[in-house]
Amino acid sequence: MSWLLQCGLVLGAVLLSLVAALRLFAYFTLGICRSTASMKGRTVIITGANSGIGKETAHDLARRGAKVIMACRNLETAHKARDEIVQSTGNQEVVVMKLDLSSLKSVRDFADDINNTVTKLDVLVHNAGTAHMFGSKTTEDGLEMTMATNHFGPFLLTHLLIGLLKRSAPSRIVIVGSELYRLAYLNLNNLNPVDGFPAYLYYVSKYANIVFAQELARRLEGSGVTVNCLHPGMIDSGIWRNVPFPLNLPLKILIKGFFKSPAEGAQTTIYLSVSEDVEGISGKYFIDCKEYFLSHGAKDPATAKKLWELSETFVGLKLNDPHI
Ligand SMILES: NC(=O)c1ccc[n+]([C@@H]2O[C@H](COP(=O)([O-])OP(=O)(O)OC[C@H]3O[C@@H](n4cnc5c(N)ncnc54)[C@H](OP(=O)(O)O)[C@@H]3O)[C@@H](O)[C@H]2O)c1
Repeated sequence: MSWLLQCGLVLGAVLLSLVAALRLFAYFTLGICRSTASMKGRTVIITGANSGIGKETAHDLARRGAKVIMACRNLETAHKARDEIVQSTGNQEVVVMKLDLSSLKSVRDFADDINNTVTKLDVLVHNAGTAHMFGSKTTEDGLEMTMATNHFGPFLLTHLLIGLLKRSAPSRIVIVGSELYRLAYLNLNNLNPVDGFPAYLYYVSKYANIVFAQELARRLEGSGVTVNCLHPGMIDSGIWRNVPFPLNLPLKILIKGFFKSPAEGAQTTIYLSVSEDVEGISGKYFIDCKEYFLSHGAKDPATAKKLWELSETFVGLKLNDPHI
């Protein structure tokens, strides 16, 4: 056998061992929600529940007996997902409602609907998120699309539902952030960068999620409403659908090789929504169903206060809207 072939075999073996080690690492570090808590009699709202992590979260909470409100912008895929969940869990109390988080009007219409029809809200899961690599877009409200969907919409929605959440206490808010926030800097001098690079703004919006979660927790202290944020892991979901050719080719290998399934990615959201372990815990960040550390910048209360005040202006919070 030539030395070249031998080198090739050794290299192949090393690569295979590396892949196996990474897969084993992913498997053994996977956080699973072990709670068997029933959600009978509880009402939850999950944004973006028609696909990926949100759909799996809706499925699990429906299986536990919750009334699940799937807040989605695409009603066709939402109804399809709802039918699958009802069929698999036997829980008929799964409903679809229209919500486009990139539109402040849609957020207000959805909140009005909820406040007029729902008397108790136990868990609000801010799951929906969008990511684009190129092609910046501005919403009808003049907001940058990624920031509008991932931060400003959820910020306004939280305000409009806070009365209901407080009346339903103990209640929980769960915010799906991302570890990718560590790649970003939250520029408070330009919180609405309409000419910004969308891929980078995804990281910024996830930074905003984490900072918002902590400030919200501080403001809700003693109210019986807890707020926690999480990173779901790197998940094989629709969030990667906008990565263009040819960048999507190596990404596909990574996704299929190393990323977790949406059901695995939903575990920490489910844990924070149902588990007795986190009763009364607020303002924390979780990965794999365990508390995780945040960067100093993301924990800075002055940054959080400024982000809050600026966000109130960008979403056009009115005097007679609930203030937190
Ligand atoms: N996948 C990962 O590796 C990963 C890692 C870290 C964090 N996350 C976060 O996990 C969350 C869930 O994402 P996913 O991975 O499950 O991706 P996904 O399958 O693409 O799900 C995202 C959901 O958000 C919805 N959405 C997007 N824009 C919306 C809008 N304007 N109004 C209402 N809903 C909207 C989508 O609805 P449509 O079907 O209508 O587009 C979809 O249901 C996101 O917040 C994401 O940032 C994901």
